[in-house]
Amino acid sequence: MPHIKNLLRMIITGKYPYLRMRRNRHSNWIRRLVEEHNLSSSDLILPIFLVDGRNKKQEIFNMPDVYRFSIDKLDPILNKAIKLKIPAVALFPYTSKTLKDSKGSEALNENNLVCKAIRYIKKKYKNEIGIMCDVALDPYTIHGHDGILRNKKILNDETNKVLIKQSILQASMGCDIIAPSDMMDGRVGLIRKNLDKNNFEEVQILSYAVKYASSFYGPFRNAVGSKGLLKGDKKTYQMDYKNRNEALREVAIDIKEGADMVMVKPGMPYLDIISLVKSKFRTPVIAYQVSGEYSMLMNSIKRNIIDEKSILESLMSFKRAGATAIVTYFADRIVKYL
Ligand code: PBG
Repeated sequence: MPHIKNLLRMIITGKYPYLRMRRNRHSNWIRRLVEEHNLSSSDLILPIFLVDGRNKKQEIFNMPDVYRFSIDKLDPILNKAIKLKIPAVALFPYTSKTLKDSKGSEALNENNLVCKAIRYIKKKYKNEIGIMCDVALDPYTIHGHDGILRNKKILNDETNKVLIKQSILQASMGCDIIAPSDMMDGRVGLIRKNLDKNNFEEVQILSYAVKYASSFYGPFRNAVGSKGLLKGDKKTYQMDYKNRNEALREVAIDIKEGADMVMVKPGMPYLDIISLVKSKFRTPVIAYQVSGEYSMLMNSIKRNIIDEKSILESLMSFKRAGATAIVTYFADRIVKYL
């Protein structure tokens, strides 16, 4: 009798040899049955870099297999994204130095590259795919900052005035998701209010609520033509990567101001932040696997240091952490594994 009692206790308290974790792993079918997370093409946003001119498909330094496309060359990648059921693309313009100035005036030009691309995509593809656009001045400023620079300071409230105009312009071109990536204070509320005032109440705001001042943005800055221009760093507006609680405050504020979704960026070094934000809020949390992360993985794959399945592993880590969706340069390449 004591023997049976002992046996029961071992089973209940989960003791080897009665308990064997490997039983749920022995075959592919059981692994599939007990899997806790999954990734589908509907979880992905594909960033696309744009360049002016015609018939261009330019390689980007340290981002193998990612290109800048002129608008007339966009169809294959858009068709592919639609066919793969990727819900949205994020557009990023390479802006030539001649169009940049200290205030980022080109951001408000209704014939700038992004505006032209939105018009083209919306006219041809209607609502088959969502379009997301950054709201920030860095592609357009000669100093590479996201806001207006005066006396070595990035001016918050003056920048907001431009961001509002940039948002309304992009919405009027047909942009579906306005994504303020500038980290100015108060911009989400102001953008929401002014979008509504202009009858764009259906246009979403995906706030880059938790955006860290990071070294992982390097290849992106080269891709949009702001590399080498940046004076100093972005630490007076982007977050300090030593901080966690601050991320929660940022998210709380942006949700209150009307953000429909929030972003955590970069991705893989910040899985703890994704998890934290997801545990405290019920708003969709979008992770951004940024250019430097892409470069590290892709360059290692190209050199056969790791195999291609590492991409899937990296993306699944975002889902496991609680991300609703992921912005990733791998979006169009990974779907074949799903
Ligand atoms: C611009 C912006 C950046 C990224 C997206 N929007 C760079 C930056 O803030 O310097 C980075 C994306 C990437 O690295 O893939 N505000």
